[in-house]
Amino acid sequence: MKKILLGLLFLLLTILSIIWLNLPKITPYYTQLTQPRVGLNLDLQPQAQKRANFIGSIKCQECHEENYSNWKHSMHSKMIQDIKKDPSVVVADFTKLPNDADFTLAEAVYTIGSKFKQRYMIPATINDKEDYRLGNYQT
Ligand code: HEC
Repeated sequence: MKKILLGLLFLLLTILSIIWLNLPKITPYYTQLTQPRVGLNLDLQPQAQKRANFIGSIKCQECHEENYSNWKHSMHSKMIQDIKKDPSVVVADFTKLPNDADFTLAEAVYTIGSKFKQRYMIPATINDKEDYRLGNYQT
């Protein structure tokens, strides 16, 4: 009986010392997890930001010439391209578009991807807002 009690005491002390040694690792998560939660329905976006709108990359060039140039000459600047501005950005042969395609070239306004794979953005109303959907085929 005494041996079992001593064994249990030893086990308990071992577990407590493991917890004690790991406390510095655990505490930051404990404080994170016990912080008051912000509800998902709470709108935290500042009013000034709500009134903001897209000004385009040319504006950034005024002050960030080098960053702009690096970006402009990389593939990143070609990820989304305006078909109406430059129809040559379209890689796909639309004459080969299968019959079950849910879009046409005339409907597509932007390309996503410029070289290996390309998808097409088509204007659509989503949740009562003017938005874009993706065509169901890609090159
Ligand atoms: C009127 C001048 C001006 C314009 C226009 C401007 N910026 Fe800046 N930007 C700055 C200045 C000044 C800083 C601060 C630089 C610093 O602290 O080293 C900065 C900093 C930044 C940083 C942080 C860089 C870092 O290393 O932390 C980013 C990212 C950035 N700008 C992106 C943009 C983008 C994107 C646009 C266009 C939409 C833009 N900026 C337009 C002047 C400008």
